[in-house]
Amino acid sequence: MSIPEAIVHEHDVIVIGAGGAGLRAAIEASATGAKVAVICKSLLGKAHTVMAEGGMAAAMGHVDDRDNWEVHFADTMRGGGYLNNWVMAEHHAKEAPDRVRELEAWGAVFDRTKDGRILQRHFGGHRYQRLAHVGDRTGLEMIRTLQDHGIHQGLDVYMEMTVIALLRSGGRIAGVLGYDRERGRLRVWRAGAVILATGGIGKAYRITSNSWEYTGDGQSLAYEAGAEIMDMEFIQFHPTGMVWPPSVRGLLVTEGVRGEGGALRNSEGRRFMWDDIPEAYKNQVAADEEEAWRYVCGDKNAQRPPELLTRDHVARCINREVKAGRGSPHGGVFLDIAWIKSRVPNGEEYIKKKLPSMYHQFMQLAGVDITREAMEVGPTTHYCMGGVRVDGDTQMSSVPGLFAAGEVAAGLHGANRLGGNSLSDLVVFGRRAGESAARWAKEHGAAPVDNAQVESETARALAPFDRLNGENPYAIQSDLQNVMQRLVGMVRVQSELEEALGHIASLRARAANCGVVGHREYNPGWHTAIDLRNLLLVSEMITKSALLRPESRGGHFREDFPLRSEECTGFNLVASRADDGSMNIQRRQRPPIRADLQAIIERMK
Ligand code: FUM
Repeated sequence: MSIPEAIVHEHDVIVIGAGGAGLRAAIEASATGAKVAVICKSLLGKAHTVMAEGGMAAAMGHVDDRDNWEVHFADTMRGGGYLNNWVMAEHHAKEAPDRVRELEAWGAVFDRTKDGRILQRHFGGHRYQRLAHVGDRTGLEMIRTLQDHGIHQGLDVYMEMTVIALLRSGGRIAGVLGYDRERGRLRVWRAGAVILATGGIGKAYRITSNSWEYTGDGQSLAYEAGAEIMDMEFIQFHPTGMVWPPSVRGLLVTEGVRGEGGALRNSEGRRFMWDDIPEAYKNQVAADEEEAWRYVCGDKNAQRPPELLTRDHVARCINREVKAGRGSPHGGVFLDIAWIKSRVPNGEEYIKKKLPSMYHQFMQLAGVDITREAMEVGPTTHYCMGGVRVDGDTQMSSVPGLFAAGEVAAGLHGANRLGGNSLSDLVVFGRRAGESAARWAKEHGAAPVDNAQVESETARALAPFDRLNGENPYAIQSDLQNVMQRLVGMVRVQSELEEALGHIASLRARAANCGVVGHREYNPGWHTAIDLRNLLLVSEMITKSALLRPESRGGHFREDFPLRSEECTGFNLVASRADDGSMNIQRRQRPPIRADLQAIIERMK
């Protein structure tokens, strides 16, 4: 049967997203002999992966031989508030070192120790120096390497495509429906298996490190295809984004600055992070600045600076200082790396060598020379710990033939992700997803595409063109970002979450009447109208889940329930679409952790 109007492509495996997870998945699937397509919303090479600047966490033990997979596993579980999928946390900690070595074999040029091994740096929540890095451009180097390797392997890449629906057949995946952004032509990709690697949801918020592509597409596509979405209340606000000038507010300032000794100070010049040390880290923080510096320099007997506690905690401390009136002129705090010049020879050159992108970013965008002045920084929406619920071994979702890897998948990070665990997540689980999806496609073959679904999804996507006097989708997206930033941000409370749900319902009604003018060729208004559906859906999931978790843990802080609740350790929240189309969110009991893994956690405590 022909599919009206659409250009049809045939593959074994489709990967949606060309960041680290998507490329690694495509490489693995292709290595099995499968015909693989990579569909990306933007140009190849432009992915949020490049915003993981400071490094890739892997217990290689090159700089500190006390490190091993067990310590990394325990750190990840503790950082995630013990809500992590422990199967994934175990795979991740065990496999990350091999994935670093593999990247190196494929051409990634990591920074080296004096004796020529891969150098590793400190990052928040990691007990030992663990992050393999390339200055402060690690994500960029990862993308460059994977892209190069993938292209030579013969991947078919479709750039500047928007996916509007996952196609199903008899309860399983049959392909993907989308359009090319340049001409607006509809396309159907038929395939045995589909891997989502679409990244996060940052554009639901006003202040974010994410760029325009990150509109919750994968989470929404999966949900609408019948998959379960888990842990959406856990949003990571990275402590350090730029706060000035306004045009770059939210742009990432890598945690690598703190890993190299950067100090957070308030307007009184005080290192305020010492004011509040969480119970779980009480005996792991330096007594004073001298000990903190010795830690940065690799002294194994020293404890960490408080700036290297987990991101959720650091972000809340910054928030506290700003609210108390001890912030910087533009509503952040000061991050000072220039002070280390008093400790290292050729300090200016040293800072430029360790943090070249930060030097240029501040010099060119803010006119600030970080080798001489402090940066102004504040929290920025960076990462979504929640996403598609997947099997910890295969990465398959609850929809047969649909897989997810990287940020769009839930589980590994629990309630809060440790910095640097995202790059390792991408390649560890990208590889697993690629391998499983190729196997699944081979075993099950392709399913027929349902023309009626193609027609109804096409009609839905094109509807805004029929509403010539409809509201501008940009205005609705902007209002949504304000609602989420103001009412579902770092500090949450029941009354505000309920107020947000009311706003989201009325924004949805407005979105149903939004209109676009012009034709389908490069029409940004139309693209925004499509994004809006996804943004509204993920915003509703985040807000409803936040209401249903009466405690504070990781990236979810409830002012009305400021403590962690023992009872809440027992469940994850799982969203799914009910038969009547409403959103159903339920507590899902967590499987008891394997005894040997629990023993590791206890030992590491
Ligand atoms: O701060 C950073 O360089 C970000 C790293 C990450 O999100 O893993």
